[in-house]
Amino acid sequence: MSAENRFDQAAEEWDSLEPRKKMIRAISERMFERLPLNAEMDVLDFGCGTGLLSLRVADQVKSLTGIDTSSGMLNTFEQKATQMGLKNTQTQWLDLTQKMEIPGQYDLIVSSMVFHHVKELNPVLVLLHRALKPEGQLCIADLDLDGGLFHENAVDVFHNGFDRKAFAEALKTAGFSAVEVTDATSITKPVGDELRSFSIFLATGEK
Ligand SMILES: C[S@@+](CC[C@H](N)C(=O)[O-])C[C@H]1O[C@@H](n2cnc3c(N)ncnc32)[C@H](O)[C@@H]1O
Repeated sequence: MSAENRFDQAAEEWDSLEPRKKMIRAISERMFERLPLNAEMDVLDFGCGTGLLSLRVADQVKSLTGIDTSSGMLNTFEQKATQMGLKNTQTQWLDLTQKMEIPGQYDLIVSSMVFHHVKELNPVLVLLHRALKPEGQLCIADLDLDGGLFHENAVDVFHNGFDRKAFAEALKTAGFSAVEVTDATSITKPVGDELRSFSIFLATGEK
C-alpha cells in the first residue's frame, strides 16, 4: 500500500490518539518557543497531516499553507480549519519527492514526523530552501535513531529515525545556515511487552 493510501485511511482517526496529540502538541510548543510567530508571517507546514502541529497557531500568523500527499489528511485539515473559523489557511496536494515546485514564498516552513517517510532528503530540502524568503526559517521535528522499533507498520518508512549530526549536515548541504539540532520531546509507547521511550529532535536552519 502506498503512503498516500495509508494516510488517507488514517486521516479520520488521526486526531483520536491521545499520545500522538500530546506528542505533537509538545513539538509544536517547543517549535514556536524557538521561532516566535507574528501576524506578518506566511507559514508552510510540509506533510501537514490533519494540522495537529500548525492549525493551533494559525490565528497568530498572516497565512498558513498545508501541503501533503494524502487527500484524506488535507480534507480533515480543511474541515478543522473551517470549524475553527480560520480564513487564512489553505491546502495543496503536493509531492516534493516528485520534484513539484512549492507555490509561494514563506517566512517559516515547519514539518513534524514527515522526513522518515522521505527516501531522499536532499531534493526535498532543496525545494524547501527555495520556497523560503531571504532569512526565512526551517524547523523540522523527527525521530532520533529508533532501531526500527517506533513503527509497527513499517510500510513507507525509509529511515529508522535520524542521526542528528547527519541530519544537520543534510540541511547544510541543501544550503541552510545557522543549523541547530536540539531536543523537542519524547514519546513513550508499548513495543512488544515493554514500554519504550523515543526521543524527537528539532532541527532548525535559516536561508
Ligand atoms: C506521520 S504523519 C505526520 C502528520 C503531521 N505532520 C503530524 O505531525 O501530525 C506523516 C505525514 O506526511 C505525509 N507525507 C508522507 N510523504 C510525504 C511527501 N513526500 N510529501 C508530503 N507529505 C508527505 C503523509 O501523508 C502524512 O500526512
